[in-house]
Amino acid sequence: MSGGYLRRILEGKLDGEELERLPRGFQRIGHVAILSLPPELWERRREIGEALLGKNGIRTVAVKVGGMEGRERRPRLEVVAGDRETVTLHREHGCSFKLDPLKVMFSPGNLYERGRIPKLVQPGEVVVDLFAGVGQFSLPIAKLARPSRVYAVELNPVAYGYLCENIRLNGLGGVVVPILGDCERVAPRGVADRVILGILHVTHRYLPLAGQVLKPSGGTIHYHESVPVSLHRVRPVRRVREAFPDREVEILGVRKVKGYAPGVVHVVVDARIGPRSNF
Ligand SMILES: C[S@@+](CC[C@H](N)C(=O)[O-])C[C@H]1O[C@@H](n2cnc3c(N)ncnc32)[C@H](O)[C@@H]1O
Repeated sequence: MSGGYLRRILEGKLDGEELERLPRGFQRIGHVAILSLPPELWERRREIGEALLGKNGIRTVAVKVGGMEGRERRPRLEVVAGDRETVTLHREHGCSFKLDPLKVMFSPGNLYERGRIPKLVQPGEVVVDLFAGVGQFSLPIAKLARPSRVYAVELNPVAYGYLCENIRLNGLGGVVVPILGDCERVAPRGVADRVILGILHVTHRYLPLAGQVLKPSGGTIHYHESVPVSLHRVRPVRRVREAFPDREVEILGVRKVKGYAPGVVHVVVDARIGPRSNF
């Protein structure tokens, strides 16, 4: 929804300057709306939240109080209006995702990417999702494509719990295999036609692991990175190439997923990694 919408529903409740400072939109996960407010509107967060309640099924309004926290990427949000029950059901790409957006990360900005990957998966492929979360990539792949297996690896027990529940909820138990733990330790080796590295900040450290997870004959990786705009066509591709000095690397594409922070973008590199040198 646009900033115009927030402005419209808050006219008469905020003054002109405050209306000007409203964000352009907000995120929506199930019945929870999530707003990012500038410091000048912090005192007005409750009125802003109240104004959104009941609109288009919104039952809870939360505001961001900081960035994602720690290795498990736990969101920092505060509920400012409505129902304190934040476990919700979010639907997209033919899948239902049960999750608590106050406890686990789910980025509405990755919506297109979550729908793009299943279209690339060929029948019979084995996919390994190294940072599976609640099943953001694994479930649409299993639902919309015809992989033989999707291994979904997740470190955070809370996200893993939702992942298991979502596999059941979507009837995908025969295809998606959840694995709890640090992917470095527990990801299956030598099995994958395709590896998804859907995490930011630390992703390049896991490129060698992706190489081990792929079949010895090679396969495709989807490598995510947050990168300054000025470097976005260069650094992610360089990191992928440098991680596989002894293997052929074909860059299939570089796509901007979303703006991440001022001057920083989230990009994904699709790359085909050739056979291991000893294959
Ligand atoms: C930012 S979320 C992304 C989820 C999903 N891939 C997406 O892009 O929407 C990253 C997830 O990776 C998990 N994670 C972080 N480090 C991990 C590791 N070493 N092994 C397995 N999972 C990990 C976190 O707990 C979190 O749930």
